[in-house]
Amino acid sequence: MPSGSRADVLVIGGGVIGLAVAWRAAQRGLRNVIVVDPGHGRGAAGVAAGMLAPVTELQYGEEPLLHLGMASNRRYEGFAAELTEASGGLDTGYRRCGTIAVALDSDDRAELRELYAFHQRLGLDSSWLTGREARRLEPMLAPGVRGGLHAADDHQVDPRRLLTALVAACERAGVRLHRAEAVELLVDGGRAVGARLDDGESVAAEQVVLAAGPHSHRLPGLPEGVLPAVRPVKGQIVRLRIPEAYRPFLSRNVRAVVRGRHLYLVPRENGELVIGATTEEQGYDTTVTAGGVYELLRDAHELVPGITELPLVETSAGLRPGSPDNAPLLGPTDLPGLVAATGHYRNGVLLTPVTADLLADYLATGEVPQPARPFAPTRFSPASPVAKASA
Ligand code: GLY
Repeated sequence: MPSGSRADVLVIGGGVIGLAVAWRAAQRGLRNVIVVDPGHGRGAAGVAAGMLAPVTELQYGEEPLLHLGMASNRRYEGFAAELTEASGGLDTGYRRCGTIAVALDSDDRAELRELYAFHQRLGLDSSWLTGREARRLEPMLAPGVRGGLHAADDHQVDPRRLLTALVAACERAGVRLHRAEAVELLVDGGRAVGARLDDGESVAAEQVVLAAGPHSHRLPGLPEGVLPAVRPVKGQIVRLRIPEAYRPFLSRNVRAVVRGRHLYLVPRENGELVIGATTEEQGYDTTVTAGGVYELLRDAHELVPGITELPLVETSAGLRPGSPDNAPLLGPTDLPGLVAATGHYRNGVLLTPVTADLLADYLATGEVPQPARPFAPTRFSPASPVAKASA
């Protein structure tokens, strides 16, 4: 059995999801909530652009995810305000700016027309723009832009500030942020009972939340079949700085299809411009490559030629945690005592508020809230009808 302190909740992983779950769990009255991570606040969200864009990022066949994303988007303003207060005044960079998605050639335009038609079928709030209307909204767009759509409710947050605020809010709520790596899940009598850490300590817990992104399924001690593989999907991004004299360079998020390739530009009020992102399935590699940066800048330059004037301040790469169906794993697993909050793929920042609320509800009551049910981690268990149907 583990030695040392006993937690109501032990969260493994101090990224945006793990921290938000811990903060909400502490708010729900769970005592002795511990988050273990070698570097709290250093998860994949630190690389993310922070677009809150369930409508413009909609993928065919992912309607349940759309509804979860929209639910989270609706919570964001309140979540950000509450977090600012709970963290002692730290701003999260939440900004209600809207998003346009634009097309560069006629095939790109056809792709966005399809997306627009899909929005209409689902009753989503988006409107079609001609090229001229798009340029009226964003005059820095290239003259060749062929039209696109406007989603007034797709906004943005600054993920780095979000992480900083979550760390502070956790500390102020009494969450213990233990700087160590979980090296083994401890299981006793068919139940998760805690974790052994690389600093020699063990933490015993009533409930263990696994929020370790693409490392979640690799935790030694995790019985086989309890969690599907959460694959790492690399994303490279570029950060530019918009000098005061050039502002507002862009007024809202700009997504684009550029000769079949997808791209986004996220302009922040503080002058940062994030351009992303590559999507690469090549394991746990986070090297920034010349090719990745070249592709981003080439496509961004076709879309917004003026970017070449801006200082380049950072290139970075992170790993999105992708589940087998690209939807998150939320709630109890087949191993009693073990709860999953992982697999958020491209939507970790967007889904943070709803994930934290749903998980804290479950941790406090033992009942899986209705909106979390389509995302049960057990949908991949060998006995699950979903798993059998796709076998
Ligand atoms: N949600 C944006 C990305 O994953 O690149």
